[in-house]
Amino acid sequence: MTLEGKVAIVTGGNSGIGKAVALGLAGAGANIVIDYVANEAATEELERQIVALGDRAIGVDADVSKVADLEQLVAEAVKAFGRVDIMVNNAGIETRTSILDTTEDQYDRVLDINLKSAFFGTQVAAKQMIAQGGGGRIINMTSVHEDWPMPGNTAYCLSKGGMRMLTRTAGVELAPQGVLVVGVGPGAVDTPINAATVADPVALAKLDAAIPIGRLASPEEIASVVVFLAGAGASYLTATTIFADGGIMHSSPGL
Ligand code: BGC
Repeated sequence: MTLEGKVAIVTGGNSGIGKAVALGLAGAGANIVIDYVANEAATEELERQIVALGDRAIGVDADVSKVADLEQLVAEAVKAFGRVDIMVNNAGIETRTSILDTTEDQYDRVLDINLKSAFFGTQVAAKQMIAQGGGGRIINMTSVHEDWPMPGNTAYCLSKGGMRMLTRTAGVELAPQGVLVVGVGPGAVDTPINAATVADPVALAKLDAAIPIGRLASPEEIASVVVFLAGAGASYLTATTIFADGGIMHSSPGL
């Protein structure tokens, strides 16, 4: 298997894209570390699914918006598996609130969970990768909205725009140490973050019509990109983003 014996941390790994990423990396042979703040039961169920794939998994009670908890996540990974080869900064939320209405608390939560966690997740994982030697892979789950406005979701867009520059800058800074940093930019994916749209037939039809491929992605269609980026075939990729968006960023309104 392509990732046999590798150790991967997946933040926000117990639901949505993160869960598919954890299972995808495990399917390729990696041992998995997942954080949780809530949903311990979902985390334990996922651990069982990963063990059934023949790998090992641990869940760590950690709030990824806190640097001390991220340090703990890496420490637990090293305690359980001896090293960290792959860090997937995946945890993310959105509020879908207008710039006119977004509260300070909503702003802080979105920026802390999406961007601060990715910044310090990159820092703590890279330190471990450099200390252990042999390089590593850091994969930041961004969005088409790292570069493409989503009116009514400004705090989210600016967190993803920040992750875009984190990926580029950290990718350049850490390349000499063999730590590669790449972003994955999904479009619309069938996960809890889009549950309200998927449940509304009119909104869903409008979204599907805006996507050249004509439908939302499954979480597994994003996870397969992460598995590729974590593997030997992606050894020359850093400081860039791979968009898996069904063409949505480049769709034409029917010119
Ligand atoms: C957002 C979704 C949105 C999708 C496509 C994602 O990053 O989280 O709410 O549907 O981008 O616009």
